[in-house]
Amino acid sequence: MPQLLEATLLLLLLYPQPLNTPMQIVHSITELRHVLRHAERPVLVPTMGNLHAGHLSLLAQGKPLGDVSVVSIFVNRLQFLPHEDFDSYPRTFEADRAALEQAGCDVLFAPRETDLYPEPQTFKITPDPALADLLEGQFRPGFFTGVCTVVMKLFMAVFAGKAHGVAMFGQKDYQQLMVVRRMARQFALPIDIVAGPIQRAEDGLALSSRNRYLSETARAEALQLHLALRELGRDALAAAHALPARLPALEVVALAQLAVRGWHPDYLTVRRRADLLPPQAGDSDGALVVLGAARLNGTRLIDNLEI
Ligand code: PAF
Repeated sequence: MPQLLEATLLLLLLYPQPLNTPMQIVHSITELRHVLRHAERPVLVPTMGNLHAGHLSLLAQGKPLGDVSVVSIFVNRLQFLPHEDFDSYPRTFEADRAALEQAGCDVLFAPRETDLYPEPQTFKITPDPALADLLEGQFRPGFFTGVCTVVMKLFMAVFAGKAHGVAMFGQKDYQQLMVVRRMARQFALPIDIVAGPIQRAEDGLALSSRNRYLSETARAEALQLHLALRELGRDALAAAHALPARLPALEVVALAQLAVRGWHPDYLTVRRRADLLPPQAGDSDGALVVLGAARLNGTRLIDNLEI
C-alpha cells in the first residue's frame, strides 16, 4: 500500500495537470505563468470573448498540437477606434466560461484591463505598413498596431520561457492572420501560427461575434456579403486573362450591387494571397483571395474567399 501511495505521489509530481482536471481560470499574468510552469508546448487561442463555433473549432483544432490549451478572453481597447463598438462589444463571460469548460479547455486567461495594461501602453508594435495599411488598416487606422501589441503581450504572458508554442487564428480575419504571421516571423518567435478555416452558418454567413448585433431582417440580408464575394470571385476568374485591367470595373459593380441593397461597403476586392496587393498579369486562380468589409445597419461585417 505505501508503494501505491508513493507511485501516485510520483505521478502527481510528474504530471501536475492530469487529464480531465477542471478548467483553471486566471486573471493575472503572474497567475497564468504559475499555472503554465510545467507546460512545454502551450497552445493559445486568443479571443475577445462572445465565443461561437468558430472559436471552439480553433480550440478543438489546437488542443492536439500542444500539451496545455489556453483560451484568452480580452476585449482589447487598443484596437478600437474612438467611434467603434468597444463599449458595446458583447461581453458574455459566464456563457463563454461554460462553453470552454464543456469543450475541454485547460486554462481560461481572462485578464482585467489593469492586468494587461497596468500603465498606459506607450510602447507598441507597429506592423509592416505594406501589409497593415491596406484594406482593414485603411478603414480602421491603427487597428493592426492595437492587435499586434496585445497579441505580443499575450504571447509573452503564455510563451515566455517556453521552447515552443502554438497560436491559433481564424481565417475569417485573413489580413490579421497574415500580419501576425509576419510579426512572428520577423521577431523569430518560437511560435507556430496555425490558421483555422472560417466557420459558417448553414446559409453560408461567416460566424462572427458581431452577427449578434443583427436584427432578424438584417441577419437574413447579411448573407449577401458572402454572395457578393462569390460572384466577384467568379467574375474575376472568368476575366483571368486580363484581370489587372478588368478588375477595377468588376469591383465597382460588386460595391454598387451591395450599396443599392442598403449596405455601406468599405471594400470588395480581389488580392494576391501572398501579399494582399492587387493581382498582376500572370497571377492566376489558386493565388488569389476575394475580401470584403461592409456595414449593414451599422454592423460591420467582414468575409473572404480564396479562389
Ligand atoms: O481576432 C480577435 O478576436 C482579436 O483581434 C484578437 C486576435 C483576440 C486580438 O485582440
